[in-house]
Amino acid sequence: MDALRIQGGARLSGTLAVDGSKNASLPAMAAAILSTDTVQLRDVPPLSDINNMVRLLGEIGCEVVHDDRTMTIRTVDPTANHARYDIVRTMRASICVLGPLLAARGEARVSMPGGCAIGDRPVDLHLRGLEALGATITLDGGDIIARADKLKGATIFLGGPFGSTVLGTANVMSAAVLAEGTTIIESAACEPEITGLANMLNAMGADVSGAGTPRIEIHGVESLGNVDYQVIPDRIVAGTIAMAVAITNGDATLTNFPYDNLLAVLDRLTAAGVHIQRRDDTEPANRCTVKVSSDRNLKPVLFTTQPYPGYPTDLQAQMMTVLCLADGNSIVTERIYPDRFLHVSELTRMGAQLFRSGPTVVVQGGGELIGAPVMAGDLRGSAALIMAGLAAKGETIVQRIYHVDRGYVKLEEQLNTLGAGIERFDLGVSESVESAVGV
Ligand code: EPU
Repeated sequence: MDALRIQGGARLSGTLAVDGSKNASLPAMAAAILSTDTVQLRDVPPLSDINNMVRLLGEIGCEVVHDDRTMTIRTVDPTANHARYDIVRTMRASICVLGPLLAARGEARVSMPGGCAIGDRPVDLHLRGLEALGATITLDGGDIIARADKLKGATIFLGGPFGSTVLGTANVMSAAVLAEGTTIIESAACEPEITGLANMLNAMGADVSGAGTPRIEIHGVESLGNVDYQVIPDRIVAGTIAMAVAITNGDATLTNFPYDNLLAVLDRLTAAGVHIQRRDDTEPANRCTVKVSSDRNLKPVLFTTQPYPGYPTDLQAQMMTVLCLADGNSIVTERIYPDRFLHVSELTRMGAQLFRSGPTVVVQGGGELIGAPVMAGDLRGSAALIMAGLAAKGETIVQRIYHVDRGYVKLEEQLNTLGAGIERFDLGVSESVESAVGV
């Protein structure tokens, strides 16, 4: 099993391009099921989650060619509608094939996603939305079975106890593009990945307006055709790298940076004393070049995770790590996944002073981080541990880094390009914590 060995202390500098977005690619790949022709996606990052989606699409009758970062997808067997547990359990985002399968083929059988390390992640809103479009939903052998001869447009409220749902919005929007009549999604997710998906669907011949706002209007069409779509830059990767530069008091240039999609994060980083400047105002604000730099004077800040355009939950762990080194106490509140704090106990092993009460963590700054062996528990938390290792005194070993490989393309190589000292090595099964504690 691979692990990372990190020598702390290097100040990151240089230039790095931000990869295409995983969370935009996954629903876009699923939406290819809706096309009667070939879908081409560009800037798809080579990640394990993407490979899992390629495998899933293959099992449900799509031919996928993934050549570096370009992918072409076309349906070859429209009768294969079963997204099996074997794949769904490796990646919850598999649920986003449900809406496209139902709309394009009239039937979908998708294994119900199970538990997740970052907390409860129900799919009730996805199902409610599809039922509102006329689907019959049943559960059989752990599978969600959705059927409809012809979906019919409807007005659907998609808000839940934690606000909107990103993949729920993607599912309902993808199904409604082929429904008869007009669909209105109220309390739709406003995330840039939804706007990106709507742009792709429109380029395939759909009629979607309002994406990026809480009210999306969709006029159903008979069929969708081919498209050549460039995936948006990954705002979470961009934010993570910017924070890695900040925590090492570095000075780096990031290109393909989705500045406008990160305003809540940039606001908090700026309040913490990190300098982030666009290099050229003539570049598009969502694919631009920024210079990130910071000195030793990080200030404490408060932030609360919220649906977009608020501060994203997927950058909570990384910012918490930055704030460990701020000069004072910060308060972090998690409002999307109130238990998404697997990183807290690991950061504590590195000397962080973190005090959790329910969905809130008080970060007592002013101290230092000290290298230690730590264990990644989820994707974003593992990125946070790697960042902590960069800023720590001495050596940090991060185990179970398969989590980080789900969402960052060779993160250690990217950070090494900026001068980090990170080595990937095989921990060996006998030495791994899994074998030591028998989990
Ligand atoms: N929720 C419900 N019912 C539902 C669906 C969601 O109550 O039917 C709740 C969730 O439990 C959560 C909140 O609504 O409290 C928001 O969940 P959402 O459905 O928006 O999450 P998601 O679509 O499953 C995507 C990202 C996550 C990201 C969340 C929130 C992908 C593949 N995943 O998940 O990304 O945290 O939106 O922004 O796009 C990650 O990349 O590390 C990651 C976890």
